Amino acid sequence: MVAAISMKKLSPAVGAEAVDVDRHRLLHDPELPGAILGALEDHGVLVFREVGLDDDEEVAFGRRLGDLVGRPGHPIPEITAITQDAANPLADYFRGNMQWHIDGAMDDIPCKAGILRAHVITSGDGGTEFASTYAAYDDLSDEEKEQVADLRVVHSLEATLRPVYPDPTPAQLADWRSRPTREHPLVWEHRSGRKSLVLGATADHVVGMEEQEGRKLLADLLARATRSERVVRHDWTVGDMVIWDNTGLLHRVTDHDPTSTRELRRVTVAGEETIR
Ligand SMILES: [Fe+2]
Repeated sequence: MVAAISMKKLSPAVGAEAVDVDRHRLLHDPELPGAILGALEDHGVLVFREVGLDDDEEVAFGRRLGDLVGRPGHPIPEITAITQDAANPLADYFRGNMQWHIDGAMDDIPCKAGILRAHVITSGDGGTEFASTYAAYDDLSDEEKEQVADLRVVHSLEATLRPVYPDPTPAQLADWRSRPTREHPLVWEHRSGRKSLVLGATADHVVGMEEQEGRKLLADLLARATRSERVVRHDWTVGDMVIWDNTGLLHRVTDHDPTSTRELRRVTVAGEETIR
């Protein structure tokens, strides 16, 4: 059987580039959605260089992969503009994007996949990095796997924002602490049978472990998961599109000048699986 898409690996641990997919195939090839979802499971991140979709086409393509997350009241509810433009009401929140994170880690069901498209790029500004949390689990020794098997972690907004605002005002602290926290297992056993670690900026402390000891463990695991040889980085050209498996990857923006006009546009494929 001829594969519906040809992929070129971008690093040993994670990421691949589709070499024979253009805008027309993304929108119309009946074989493509299944092939892309399979490749996403295998590679974690898929890069489609300069395919040049517009907003409506990105949404149409996203719908081919699954149900999309929409924000009612926005001009195109399925499109989120990722920009630090002061006019963007989410700009403050996106500052946390410089830390490794899973999107929707505070949600009941985190999104399945993100589709990012470069809309405005200033030269050399703001690459996006990805690291596999499946690989992070697989890298543990058998003894470590046993040690972490039953650990549970509390995730909070405060954990994400504290590094961004190291000296919060009492009002900021009160606001953060008024938000619900969420407890997840450290090891996520997916329906597929694969296991990944649930780590990143929202991970606050380990249940039942002394606070500093738990934080040290989480920091150690994160540092190992995101060692440079475990990371794939995408430097953007306008028209590029990248899809990542949000259930098995961490991501972050790097080297981003917050005053630049960089703007990515994201379409989000809704989650299907709770973390357990
Ligand atoms: Fe994100």
